[in-house]
Amino acid sequence: LDNGLVRTPPMGWMSWAMFWCETDCTHHPFSCISEQLYMDMADRLAEDGFTQAGYNRVHIDDCWMEYTRDNDGKLIADKKRFPSGILALSRYMHEKGVKLGIYEDYGTKTCGGYPGSYGYLEKDADTFAEWEVDYLKLDGCNVNLTEMPIGYPQMSDFLNKTGRPIVYSCSWPAYLIDQPDQVDYTTIGKYCNLWRNFDDIAPNWKSIQGIINYYDHNQDKLIPAAGPGRWHDPDMLVIGQTTVTPEQSRTQMSIWSIWSAPLIMSNDLRLIAPVYKEILLNRLVIAIDQDPLGIMGRLVANTTNVGVYVKPVTPVDTAQDRYSYAVVLFNRHTQNSATVSVKLSEIGLTNPTGYFVQDLWSGQKLGVMKPDDVYSANVPPTGVNMFKATLAQQRQKNAIEASRSL
Ligand code: GLA
Ligand code: GLA
Repeated sequence: LDNGLVRTPPMGWMSWAMFWCETDCTHHPFSCISEQLYMDMADRLAEDGFTQAGYNRVHIDDCWMEYTRDNDGKLIADKKRFPSGILALSRYMHEKGVKLGIYEDYGTKTCGGYPGSYGYLEKDADTFAEWEVDYLKLDGCNVNLTEMPIGYPQMSDFLNKTGRPIVYSCSWPAYLIDQPDQVDYTTIGKYCNLWRNFDDIAPNWKSIQGIINYYDHNQDKLIPAAGPGRWHDPDMLVIGQTTVTPEQSRTQMSIWSIWSAPLIMSNDLRLIAPVYKEILLNRLVIAIDQDPLGIMGRLVANTTNVGVYVKPVTPVDTAQDRYSYAVVLFNRHTQNSATVSVKLSEIGLTNPTGYFVQDLWSGQKLGVMKPDDVYSANVPPTGVNMFKATLAQQRQKNAIEASRSL
């Protein structure tokens, strides 16, 4: 959607894959869906280095509402769990440099059974703008699939009419996994800034691997649909949850970044272990996700156990039409490590003057490699090796220009 928003993929935190629909604040005061939970996470983002790294959004998910609208048909936040209301919450966020996202559903009810926007799209768009909300995730439970091509674009127009910049995330294609011929990314990309694609993530390896497989198998259709302001959303990062290993966390972070996917964490930032925090805050990998070209990377080589992904990134030599690249070597075997060797020219890295190569997880600079050189790495089970190959020519040119201007 060309509304000037999310020209690079959004980054932030969302409650669902960690806190689900826990509404019992009497027994679970620390982990129930409440204004306190979202304020805590905004504090952690702002104070623990996350906003500086780009994670600048907190997203409310399902189960934030009262079960009925008010007499005027307006949505109401649960009065016990959100005593200050959503406007107060978004002001709290904004003071910390954090944006607020909210959840609704196009159908008669949300997936959790709360009031949906069906018949109330315009009213709800106005309410969210009045509450100074910055992002809407519009889910697709409890509505006929045939109505989605009507309702999702309508909501896009209503949000636009409010005059408030609101990022629009549509769950539309996630409901069409079994009817791929019904999915028209040109239309979806015209009306939505991003869209959930494929099943809900769960905090375990099987789920992460399942999402990766889906994107691998459908990449020819997915890649042309993505770009600045229109992103596929393979769902939240579950990095920081203890059911996912650090190795698997580096894999999710690397592949999501290769795809130019949103980096929206779902974890408990109050309790996160340092090893996971470091993975989430790796600036080199984040820079690949946030690369301004906004190209979705591709699986270019594949065997039963090993996949090699390549994403064109900046700096670019436009005169010669040459790119820099981020590369991920992924070992899907769950028990054995793999030694992976790739000749650069075989994965499309053909710049005659070569590339400066840097391992993005160790940070180690590996010198210049030419197209005929072989990059080799030992990759742990369910793990990755990731490197950036920066156009050598470009760097040299920059260096010469810099020295001239001195
Ligand atoms: C659907 C969505 C999830 C979450 C739940 C809430 O399953 O895909 O991301 O929002 O609804 O009920
Ligand atoms: C094949 C596919 C890969 C991956 C694996 C999963 O190798 O080509 O993309 O999905 O199967 O086992």
